[in-house]
Amino acid sequence: MEKNLYGEQIGSVIGETSPIQILFIVENTRSRPRLGEYIVVDYGGDYGFRERYVLGMIESISSGNPLAPESFSNPHVLPRLRLYDETRTRTYMRGTARLLSYVSTLVSRKPFVETPKTPPPPLSIVYRAGRELLEKIFSNKGRGWVRIGVLASHPDVPYSVNVNYIVQRHLAILAVTGAGKSNTVALLVTRIVGGLGGTALVFDMHSEYSSSQLGVKTSVIEPALNPLYLDTSEFLQLLRIPSNAWRQELVFREALKKTKESILSGEAMPSSFFELLRSYAREYGGVGRKRSEWERAVSSVINKIDDLYDRYRHIFRYDIGSNLSSIIRPGYLNIMDLGGVDEDTADVVVHHYLRRLYYERRRYLRGEGGYPDPILVVIEEAHVLVPRNESRVTKYWVSRIAREGRKFGIGLCLVSQRPKAIDENALSQTNNKIILRLVEPNDLRYVQYASEYLSDELLKMLPGLNIGEAIVFGLMAPLPAVVKIDQCTGKSGGRDIDAVSEWGSRASRDNSVLRIVEETHDLAGF
Ligand SMILES: Nc1ncnc2c1ncn2[C@@H]1O[C@H](COP(=O)(O)OP(=O)(O)O)[C@@H](O)[C@H]1O
Ligand SMILES: [Mg+2]
Repeated sequence: MEKNLYGEQIGSVIGETSPIQILFIVENTRSRPRLGEYIVVDYGGDYGFRERYVLGMIESISSGNPLAPESFSNPHVLPRLRLYDETRTRTYMRGTARLLSYVSTLVSRKPFVETPKTPPPPLSIVYRAGRELLEKIFSNKGRGWVRIGVLASHPDVPYSVNVNYIVQRHLAILAVTGAGKSNTVALLVTRIVGGLGGTALVFDMHSEYSSSQLGVKTSVIEPALNPLYLDTSEFLQLLRIPSNAWRQELVFREALKKTKESILSGEAMPSSFFELLRSYAREYGGVGRKRSEWERAVSSVINKIDDLYDRYRHIFRYDIGSNLSSIIRPGYLNIMDLGGVDEDTADVVVHHYLRRLYYERRRYLRGEGGYPDPILVVIEEAHVLVPRNESRVTKYWVSRIAREGRKFGIGLCLVSQRPKAIDENALSQTNNKIILRLVEPNDLRYVQYASEYLSDELLKMLPGLNIGEAIVFGLMAPLPAVVKIDQCTGKSGGRDIDAVSEWGSRASRDNSVLRIVEETHDLAGF
């Protein structure tokens, strides 16, 4: 085993050391250690195997030459200096590395991270971590692990995450627009559905996923709901009946109860839902005295019902059954296409299905029927439906599922390009994070505040990441790492629009535009 731990020797520990960070000098500059690369520090033979080898990550690297110091001020000698052989040989590189864990605990049968307690002796040898070791740590192929990419610093080492921990402890995918969030979602859900036979539900705010060919069993759901299955509290919120308007509430409750009874008993058609609701509300006689107050409450409720109907009638369907599994199909990638509805409507729809999933999963676990499959629910544009300072009905269920979801097998994945606008409570409940390029200082601060494991050094790397590169951490991850996320084949909906070639192909069909283009070229002296 020990032989396979490390690759080539790259340097030695120098200066005063600590159990957290080391300074090392590179002995062979041709070995070119790189930022983010993993190293193994050999503490030496005085230590047993358990504490002898420590895995670290290079956090900074610099190069210098005593013949070209910062104070150098005589440019005339430079040509001669470059020719002088010793100049080259005196170029040195040195770097700092963070010590992450004993290797022995990372490769044990039940791997865990244990940071070293003692500093390495000065002059300890620093090796590049070997591929076999890195694969053992990062490329778990066991049950429940899925590959999402490769280590950015070691592209031959696959990086896997544990899906159970995603469902139990939730996930946030955060980055600026165009950095690769939707690609990451597409990759994850296709690996979960296609690879593990799992179930996922994506609330697709921009119809990106519904228009993609992801190569797994997919069911696109229209954003619709049957008012028969809205519960009283959902109605009260949608109707905007304030909690102190007890007369209105009573009128509505009674009307809703009678409406549901009439329809469920088969007496009335489901499509007459709103008609019935109005007429039962109108019939309401009130209790006790203050007749005029009751009359006012009744007409107020009827107005509110009319208003609700006008606002949301395009999403009401009376033929949707009560069986959630026929809408959100187990074993499928379910995509609810919210691209065509406004934010208020999306809020109502997402809220409704989250609530039903929650209760149905609870019923299932009590053996009372319900929804049979654990599920990963992805909320794109989470800052819209789970905002920090605005009120949204979805927020309640997201927070509740974030808190309790693991008991019921409902995992949440919040996706956003504006992390600082997401509800603090919900975001900090997501133990796992995939953070791609993120630049805005307030976003960075907020993300660090809401993350358990994000060190200052990792935070500093975020603005410099390339497209598809991410810092991945949380319980689902073996160790925090910079990962190059795989590109998901088939994902097409989110592709950036190539405006120039679209204009161009229209322009080539359109002579008048072509002429103008030519004239402009003439003017510019072409
Ligand atoms: N892991 C990746 N590898 C290579 N290219 C990627 C990767 N992720 C994203 N891209 C490219 O970047 C574009 C934008 O990605 P997308 O996932 O839609 O970003 P976001 O959802 O963050 O706005 C994609 O069309 C794709 O071409
Ligand atoms: Mg996107």
